[in-house]
Amino acid sequence: MGFKKDFIWGLATSAGQVEGGAADGGRGPSIWDVFSTVPGRIHGGVTPAVCCDSYHRFDRDVKNLSFVGVDSYRMSISWSRVMPDGTGRLNDAGVDYYKRCFEALNNAGIKPNVTLYHWDLPQALEEKNGWVNRDVIGWFSEYADKMFRIFGDVVPLWSTVNEPIATYVGYALGAFAPGRRNEKEGNQARHNILVAHGAAVDAFRASGAKGDIGIVIDIWKRHAIRDTEEDRRLVIDQDERNWKFYTDPVLGGSYSDYLLSHLQSEGTLMDIKDGDLPLMHRPIDFYGLNVYNRVPVSVDSRAAADFSQGGNFLNNKTEYYPKAVYDAIRLVHELYDLKIPVYITENGTYSIGEEARGADGVKEDGDRIRYLAGFLEWLEKAVDEGFDVRGYYLWSLMDNFEWTAGYNYRFGIFETDFDTLECRPKKSAYWYRDFIKKVKGQ
Ligand code: BGC
Repeated sequence: MGFKKDFIWGLATSAGQVEGGAADGGRGPSIWDVFSTVPGRIHGGVTPAVCCDSYHRFDRDVKNLSFVGVDSYRMSISWSRVMPDGTGRLNDAGVDYYKRCFEALNNAGIKPNVTLYHWDLPQALEEKNGWVNRDVIGWFSEYADKMFRIFGDVVPLWSTVNEPIATYVGYALGAFAPGRRNEKEGNQARHNILVAHGAAVDAFRASGAKGDIGIVIDIWKRHAIRDTEEDRRLVIDQDERNWKFYTDPVLGGSYSDYLLSHLQSEGTLMDIKDGDLPLMHRPIDFYGLNVYNRVPVSVDSRAAADFSQGGNFLNNKTEYYPKAVYDAIRLVHELYDLKIPVYITENGTYSIGEEARGADGVKEDGDRIRYLAGFLEWLEKAVDEGFDVRGYYLWSLMDNFEWTAGYNYRFGIFETDFDTLECRPKKSAYWYRDFIKKVKGQ
């Protein structure tokens, strides 16, 4: 038993977090470029203008991927790099950049796994009301169609959207770009992105591209801290309003009655047009599951405080609960009778600030190794029980721009020196390399 030889081992990043080159080669700004210049939005007042400079240093990244020996690299395309206005004109320099990336990966024997939208809407489209404007469905499918036609032969795995919840955080809660705060618009934005996903799947099938297409949705399962009716109700409410908002229509074909009736009575129900639900539920080839942790909740703040004193926690104060991956895999199969393969498209943990170095100068990220080992053990259990999981992507290849946490939360198995832009393996990079070798029996 255990992981099969053809199980895909990978590492993940996204364009807006590693590329930099924000104004190079004719790229237009994304909503994160603009949002990050608003004082107080990003820890340390930093921006993603340079990040890890992958726009100029992709060879470095390929070298590091090869060092670890991964089968696949999950990355995303910056929409505003290839289409600075969001629609219409293609930017040749941007398209060439990705051509070179995919060629370099394929030459190194590393399969590109490409996400079209990882939170970085072209600012030009935000100026037309962004994800709230229903026209975004057409804008996104135009962009998707162009990418499928250009790169359909060299990219075997595609995801339309990464974590659609980010639109809600950006349009309803104001915590992510574009920083708007309107509950009803937030619901419309997250509905529109799911419809846009379906339209992109249609564009994929029509383009004749050869690979597989899916979507990436994160699951943060709520758990009741106390065995009480109130806490159980809170779990239901939060599950419904968070990850189930996306998995229900995409994997199950409809929003839940619970969600619809609550949004209706709260006056925040989005406009749902005829045909939206079947579009959101278009058959896809795989489900990309991002899973980092569970979320213990209670209506009683004292119970919540006690819980965070008593449990098993990492140095960054997040709970160590590696079974989260097994729970999430089981759950989606139970809820939706899932018949398509699953990829774990992200899993990983962070240090706050710098990790300490060992005597050899290598960063000692023992907490990360503990976390990964635990998750991989539970993943193996899911595989052994027969769940069809085909791959695992560790987040992240290197320390990068962690959205509102700036460069302070570090998720990399390579450390990035943000002055010299060199990347060096941490202990976890050696660990993951050896793990992959062992599993493959090399
Ligand atoms: C996102 C990544 C992010 C990671 C760690 C995921 O929600 O897709 O972009 O860096 O979590 O926070």
